[in-house]
Amino acid sequence: MKRKIIITGGAGFIGSHVVRLLVNKYPDYQILNLDSLTYAGNLANLRDIEEKENYTFIKGDITDEAFIENLFQTEKPDSVIHLAAESHVDRSIKDPLAFAKTNILGTMILLNAFKKLWSGQWDNKLFYHVSTDEVYGSLGEKGLFTETTSYDPNSPYSASKASSDHFVRAYGETYDLPYVISNCSNNYGSYQFPEKLIPLFINNIINNKSLPVYGDGNYTRDWLYVVDHAIAIDLIFHKGVLKETYNIGGFNEWKNIDLVKLLCQQMDAKLNRDSGTSEKLITYVKDRPGHDLRYAIDASKINTQLGWEPSVTFEEGLSKTIDWYLNNEDWLKNVTSGDYLKYYDKQYS
Ligand code: NAD
Ligand code: DAU
Repeated sequence: MKRKIIITGGAGFIGSHVVRLLVNKYPDYQILNLDSLTYAGNLANLRDIEEKENYTFIKGDITDEAFIENLFQTEKPDSVIHLAAESHVDRSIKDPLAFAKTNILGTMILLNAFKKLWSGQWDNKLFYHVSTDEVYGSLGEKGLFTETTSYDPNSPYSASKASSDHFVRAYGETYDLPYVISNCSNNYGSYQFPEKLIPLFINNIINNKSLPVYGDGNYTRDWLYVVDHAIAIDLIFHKGVLKETYNIGGFNEWKNIDLVKLLCQQMDAKLNRDSGTSEKLITYVKDRPGHDLRYAIDASKINTQLGWEPSVTFEEGLSKTIDWYLNNEDWLKNVTSGDYLKYYDKQYS
């Protein structure tokens, strides 16, 4: 079956990997990338596919109700894969309202436009909402998040994503809108904006700047290579059961400080610096308020029901990621000028 899919946030980190995968894999599908190009959105992330016939970029804001309704009525997408969001926890602490606007209101405006377009004719339609494991809150030293773990978000970011998940489910229950949701753990890989831990620290090591580890560094995250997330999204889009949720994770827990030390070792080797050089840049700084201790995903549902598993080990994925940033210093320089510098100074002063 041919599809016409609006992918929101397709110029961002994960969205660009999803767009690339679907454009290349399904030449018969029409892929419309809807993105407002905030600081995190960058058309340079999609240079390799922008000329493809089945790809169109549309600049637009998901919080602009009239624009979104008109776009849906004109294009009549049978599906939406919704990734557009404000995504950085530290920014959500400084400006929570911006997160409520984009992540909650923006999601509702998309749901409304999709509902109005198809008015109950739901055959072969799908609203795929891409969400995060942070909605489940924080784990202690033991245990894993499953699809039935209660929501318990702690940051304005995770509260806004939790709220958007609830609205998607509510539209499914109330209006029978066909949806799937996936909740994924921390992604890393190429094209990630250098405000998040791994690309920020790669950039700082390249530039011999300090590596600001929050608190004691004993916070744990479950890391997944972004290409494997995109593959999981493709699988769930085509084979996921309607109105179900799927957890996606890397089976790959790391304490921040251990991850940072591994990153330092790999960077020293690749930059031909003496072993131990980058570790000297580690600086313990004030903790993030409301910092979640540990995230870890039980991904057995997607593994057993859809046959998905991560394709690379963390060491391989991290090595590929570092190589990408070292080979794309122009991309890095472009995104770390201007507003980024103001943000960096404010966040880490
Ligand atoms: P990102 O910040 O890199 O990209 C977000 C994209 O959304 C950008 O291209 C931005 O321009 C666009 N956007 C923001 N506001 C918009 C608006 N109002 N209208 C239209 N476009 C807008 O984010 P990411 O890390 O790629 O995350 C993508 C999605 O995946 C988010 O929904 C996030 O919550 C979720 N997620 C991220 C991770 C992760 O580790 N990064 C893990 C799990 C889930
Ligand atoms: O779990 C999925 C989530 O992962 C996504 O939903 C979010 O969009 C994504 O940003 C990410 O959230 P985190 O807060 O876990 O990612 P971040 O890279 O900001 O931080 C990872 C860990 O590293 C966290 O414990 C905070 C710590 N950290 C982060 C930064 C930026 C530092 O110690 N120093 C830093 O400078």
